[in-house]
This record gives sequence, structure tokens and C-alpha cells, in this order.
Amino acid sequence: ASHLLGIEHLHPTEITTLLDLADQYAEHNRIGRAHRDVLEGLTQINMFFENSTRTQASFEIAGKRLGADVMNMAMQASSIKKGETLIDTALTLNAMRPDLLVVRHPNSGAVNLLAEKVNCAVLNAGDGRHEHPTQALLDALTIRRAKGRLHRLSIAICGDVAHSRVARSNIMLLGKMENRVRLVGPPTLLPSGVEEFGVEVFHDMREGLRDVDVVMMLRLQKERMDGGFIPSEREYFHRYGLDAEKLSYAKDDAIVMHPGPMNRGVEIDGTIADDINRSVIQEQVEMGVAVRMAAMDLLARNLRAARGAKAAGIG
Ligand code: CP
Repeated sequence: ASHLLGIEHLHPTEITTLLDLADQYAEHNRIGRAHRDVLEGLTQINMFFENSTRTQASFEIAGKRLGADVMNMAMQASSIKKGETLIDTALTLNAMRPDLLVVRHPNSGAVNLLAEKVNCAVLNAGDGRHEHPTQALLDALTIRRAKGRLHRLSIAICGDVAHSRVARSNIMLLGKMENRVRLVGPPTLLPSGVEEFGVEVFHDMREGLRDVDVVMMLRLQKERMDGGFIPSEREYFHRYGLDAEKLSYAKDDAIVMHPGPMNRGVEIDGTIADDINRSVIQEQVEMGVAVRMAAMDLLARNLRAARGAKAAGIG
């Protein structure tokens, strides 16, 4: 592939290849082994049109560990503020001949559109409610390391699924790898027609968490509830917030995940989030760097191969 725009078009073997490479990078990161030759001579531009802590920082660290020249566009200070469009901004940066463009945008589909206009590799760092492929991949790596496999697991994705690109990418990835996925949340926060993805739907946390291997909590995304019903935080925590009592319905060795940023006391009790025997939330962040290193490594190999073929007059 020349871009990483979503999970939708990835084959299970491509997912496994990427996770195997990411696993190696994760181990090398732990012992401080750098790989600065991998992206040496390549330029990576990070364009975040929406706030980020984890994704932005880990793409920057990943690029630097692999030896890329990394530039973070300060979008708040860019000519976007003077009315320049996303596409004109992308074409302007494209003219400076970057090799890797990492893009986050509030509109679903914006990153796919941008990828059609540029001649470098584009990585989707989250677009609207559509996809967040590197988050699903880092979640998959975290699950595989904790459970020893990434198939035939029972995984509950809980809370505000309707507004979540993380949930959408995870539903696709976990389904492709033959896991049983449950969605748990109030009817107002579950998208319609999700059954077509082969998921089970629950509106009661205790029923939904019964005997699952993985509990994946989602942030209540009030900023995307444009004018719609916004539940009270107290009521939401009471019914759908993960606490020790609700978690007791899952398997005894079930792991707890959250993509972050977390609303403690809204979708998750702080003591559960901090419980190192159950929570793998910090491991998810750590795996984010490894997965992004693997994704950029594989795209750079394809980019170099395509350029080599072009220079040789093939294809
Ligand atoms: N999980 C995630 O995408 O976090 P950030 O918004 O901080 O990047």
C-alpha cells in the first residue's frame, strides 16, 4: 500500500505483518536500540487540525527514532487561519517534497481526499468519526501481548461508540481477526446498523461485560454531540462508567483499555484506570510509538521501491 488511511481495506496478513514488526520495535524501544537508518533522508510532516497529545507525540518520536527529518506544522499559526483550504495547504506542503504526511482532521473523509492530491505517503491520524487506524493497530498489539493471541477473544467496546473513530477502526480490525465484538452503551450513543459488522449489542453494562476477555472504554465525546442529547455525567457514570463492581462481571483476567484522553469519573473510575493488575492504558501509549514506527517503516519501503522502479523506467 502507498498510504495508511484506514483499517477497512487492510488484509489480515497485512495487519499481522505490521504487528510483528511493531512488536520488534517495542522490544528495541525498551532497550534503547535506535534504528536511525530506516527513514534516513526522508522528511515527515505532521499536520494536526485537531488537538492531540498521544498521536502527535508518538508519531514525532517514532519518526525521530527512525531517523526522519520531522516537522510539526503549527496549524493554529498557519495560513489556514487566513482562509486557505485543506487541499491548497496540502498542495503547498507537497511542493516541498515531503515523503510522509501524517494528518488529523475533524472531518470524516478529509484525509482520504488529501491523499488523492499529493505524491507522498499519507497516514491517517484520525478523521472525524471515520477511522483512526494506528489507534486500532496499537490496541491490537496491546491485546496480543497481554493475551498471547489476537483471535477468538471476547471484547466489549463500551460507551460513546456513535462518535468514535477509535471504535469504528477497532470493530473492523477485531472482526477481521475473528474475535467476538460486543458494543455496550445507551441506544443514543450506539450507531444504527452496526449489526452488519457482526457485533452483538448490549444496553446493560453487566450483561455486556459478562465473561469478556477485554473491556475497552471510550471517552464521552461531548464536542461531537452537536445539539443532540448530552447525558448527565453523574447518571452516565452510574449506568455506564466502569467501576470495580461492573468489572467483576468480566473474566477474572480481563484487561481494561482506554484510548485516552480519559474522563475520570465519567466513563471510568480512576482507581480502575490506575490498577496495574487490570489496566493496560499506559502499555497502549507505549505500543503507539512502536506501531507508528512499523507503519512508517513499511510505507517507506513501498515508497522507495516505487521510486526505484520509476527511476529504472518500470511501471
Ligand atoms: N487516543 C488518541 O488519539 O489520543 P490523542 O487525541 O491525545 O492523540
